Amino acid sequence: MNIKNKTLAINGGTPVSKEPILIHKPYLDEEDFAAVDRAMRSTFISGDGPECREFEKMLAEYLGVKHVLFVNSATSALELAFRVKNFPANSEVIVPDFTYTSTAIAALYNNLKIVLADVYPDNGSLDVNKLESYISPNTVAIAAVDYAGIPAEMDNIMAIAAKHNLYVVHDTAQSIGSVYKGKKTGTQGHVSTFSFHGTKNLTTGEGGALVTNDDTIAERVKILREKGTDKYSFLTDNKTRGYYEYVDIGNSYVQSNINGALGVSQLKKLDWMNTERRKIAEYYIKELSGINGLDMLRITKGAEHNWHLFGVLVPKDEKYWIMDALRAEGIMANVHYTPLHRNRYYNHLGTDEMFPGSIQFFSRLLRLPIYPSLNKKEINNIIMAVKKIFK
Ligand SMILES: Cc1ncc(COP(=O)(O)O)c(C=O)c1O
Repeated sequence: MNIKNKTLAINGGTPVSKEPILIHKPYLDEEDFAAVDRAMRSTFISGDGPECREFEKMLAEYLGVKHVLFVNSATSALELAFRVKNFPANSEVIVPDFTYTSTAIAALYNNLKIVLADVYPDNGSLDVNKLESYISPNTVAIAAVDYAGIPAEMDNIMAIAAKHNLYVVHDTAQSIGSVYKGKKTGTQGHVSTFSFHGTKNLTTGEGGALVTNDDTIAERVKILREKGTDKYSFLTDNKTRGYYEYVDIGNSYVQSNINGALGVSQLKKLDWMNTERRKIAEYYIKELSGINGLDMLRITKGAEHNWHLFGVLVPKDEKYWIMDALRAEGIMANVHYTPLHRNRYYNHLGTDEMFPGSIQFFSRLLRLPIYPSLNKKEINNIIMAVKKIFK
């Protein structure tokens, strides 16, 4: 790498791509537009409508899980995942230091304490070897996260949880369609939480789902997401003659029928969209392997990756320069997740020395664009820009 290289756009050279190549782009086609149009014209546009129910049913079948509850974000699903348990205030939840704030706020919103845990330096996943060291008599739960779509080591995490009688919330916000030991993610924890935000592999604009095999959890979440009412059966069961009751406190987390319709049409092509991502990832790996100083993220043993993000590990002292150089070439490379303890809101919870894996991962991580609508020219330009910079 020669940071003074005059051919680099950052030093005044010609950029590889004149048009910026975005880091994320949702894949939306005519079927999605038609589905939304149909839902609008049906005039059922408010929450928990027939399209939402259809999406929940299809997704439950796709994942191989009993209950899927569609809500307005993964953040809401995470919040509900803790709310439903009524843990005593100040009970502790183990949360990876390298995650999005939503994993942590879900516990905090429920008056729980979070204990940050270190992650592997080569993929940002919860370091299972250190996990038991964070467990105290006050621990009630572990939150595992599938960063980039790479499944966490759920077998080991569930075994540790069973040994200590802990509840496991699996934050699968990024890993829809990933597989761990032959099973789709979303089927391993006590509760899993998906995101359908516009950046995700399957999008409903904004949106999320709480997924579980536990009937008791599912029944209570149906009430909590619908303002504490038992309106769920009111919508499906004529016997109640339109009567429903206020049975708990809750919030308004249901999704519009319009979002449900988009979920249905997106789910029909999820496997295809994930395959397109995989083809791009495999091409990147083929073309970028062997570059001195550039490493790929490690995929968990026994896992298949949905390629939500394509991360590379670069020399830490040059990371921000490389990002700027890529951006100057027209490639909107990005960094992601500053470790929680490095953020103002969480910085009382630890120091760099306590999370060497998280710091090492963060200090080397850079993300390249990956999404089904990236075309061959754009993909080749991305590869060309990386090679130009690393020359
Ligand atoms: C690991 C993780 N959890 C939760 C979320 C929050 O998702 P949402 O925007 O649907 O609330 C995200 C968002 O990217 C995430 O990456």
